[in-house]
Amino acid sequence: MKSFYLTTAIDYVNGSPHIGHAYEKVLADVIARTHRMQGDDVYFLTGTDEHGQKIQQSARAKGVPTQEFVDTIAAEFVELARFLNLSHNDFIRTTEPRHKEVVRACLQQLFDKGEIYRAEYKGFYSARQEQFLQEKDRQADGRWPEIYGEVIEITESNYFFKLRSYQQWLIDHITANEDFVFPAHRRKSLLEFLSEPLNDLCISRPKDRLEWGIPLPFDPDYVTYVWFDALLNYFSAVKELGRWPADFNIIGKDILIPAHGIYWPIMLHALGLPPPKTLLVHGWWSINGAKMSKSTGNFVDPIAFGKQWNVDALRYFLVREMVVGQDADFSQEQFLVRYNSELANSLGNLVNRTLNMTTRFSAGVVPLAGPAGEAETELQQLWPTTRDEFLKLSDGLQFHTALERAMQFVTATNAYIERTAPWKLAKDTSPEGQARLHTALATMAEALRLGTALLWPVMPTAVDKIRGGLAQAPLATWDGELVWGDRLAGATLGAVEILFPKPAPTEKKA
Ligand code: ME8
Ligand code: MG
Repeated sequence: MKSFYLTTAIDYVNGSPHIGHAYEKVLADVIARTHRMQGDDVYFLTGTDEHGQKIQQSARAKGVPTQEFVDTIAAEFVELARFLNLSHNDFIRTTEPRHKEVVRACLQQLFDKGEIYRAEYKGFYSARQEQFLQEKDRQADGRWPEIYGEVIEITESNYFFKLRSYQQWLIDHITANEDFVFPAHRRKSLLEFLSEPLNDLCISRPKDRLEWGIPLPFDPDYVTYVWFDALLNYFSAVKELGRWPADFNIIGKDILIPAHGIYWPIMLHALGLPPPKTLLVHGWWSINGAKMSKSTGNFVDPIAFGKQWNVDALRYFLVREMVVGQDADFSQEQFLVRYNSELANSLGNLVNRTLNMTTRFSAGVVPLAGPAGEAETELQQLWPTTRDEFLKLSDGLQFHTALERAMQFVTATNAYIERTAPWKLAKDTSPEGQARLHTALATMAEALRLGTALLWPVMPTAVDKIRGGLAQAPLATWDGELVWGDRLAGATLGAVEILFPKPAPTEKKA
């Protein structure tokens, strides 16, 4: 069994989950489920990032004790994971003792090795970004860019991690490993960034400025810089399980440089650990063509949206609409276009027709197929092509086109039904007419079983319901399941609720 370990970014608990958080977790889940279908021993980690200045500030702004504040919001992220039907094996919170212990042990190890030193720091600091700034960060007009918020000049003693001494190692590692960053253009940007010398990383914050963090094991007057703490979650969660390194660290494009692309592999290397095999970097969702923003109301709550329509439909849309690595736009209009045409009309229709016609023309029992005619042969030949392309596209993370292929097979099956018109065959009581009817009913049921098996990683609940209707157990593996055959012959079909009801969109709008 091939071991496969994947992680998502851990979300900041300074605000409620949004559609960007939901996308990343669904993408990870689809990859996890795809690997499980292929027999891999998958371990899927997600969680929340709970320390740092932003969180301390948000809690204070609400007038709530920080621990209480993070507990409340972390619960929303746990609920999101449950609602989205994620198949994660663990959910880590960085305020848990098991995580803090590992962070402290790692810091002590680096300190003992001389990788961390103390120095006086005088310069500019952005509380909003929790980051020290340099002259080169200023705008041409001398002001600090908007994203830094208020910038203050400080002088303080801090601890620094020797990032710079590993710069050449990192460049060599990225150069030698094409798979280190996906997609390729992000790997290129990372290498470009590394063409300038790195500064050592300040990994401490004096306690009088920030309390909400993990105390440094070698100096209790300081807490750990939040990124140094957060990145280690991927390791702390699986240290005892021996799962490290991760096959995929899945992250959004804003946190590749410098956090995941530079700090993280260097931290690991200094600790004597291998870097993750691949940083999988996805793009960002805009909403109705504009930047997502809670204050302007341009915001989608994934739980409310999923409840309004259907959580599998939301998962489908997110994966179908976004090319992994590129940006995409989320709008209810575009969601409904796909929902209506691909899910309600195409897939939903195939399910209904298959069950209804089998009930009407064969007492609910799938007949044994007679000899294949031209229409059956064409559909049967389309199957292995569809399956092989689907698997290849999924393997290359091209899930949007993989889904398109699977849906083309569903469409082709609907077209097959139109072409053979079982309702006409049913009127032909000759032995040949009945044999053709049996072939048509068996063919549509088998095609439905196969096509939906491919959709399982994206819509596991809907597909297992369809399988229930086909008298099949929930899908546990693709092994032996993706071959055209006659296993449904003799099966008594059951009812399937309407999976994707089709009210007029305007009626259902909130
Ligand atoms: O960055 N579209 O947390 P976060 C797609 N705690 N993805 C988006 C997005 C959007 N509009 N907005 C955010 C953090 N994301 C850190 C991570 S990891 C050790 C620590 C993605 O809650 C974002 O790119 O701000 C990131 O991958 C994830 O959501 C969490 O963002
Ligand atoms: Mg963010």
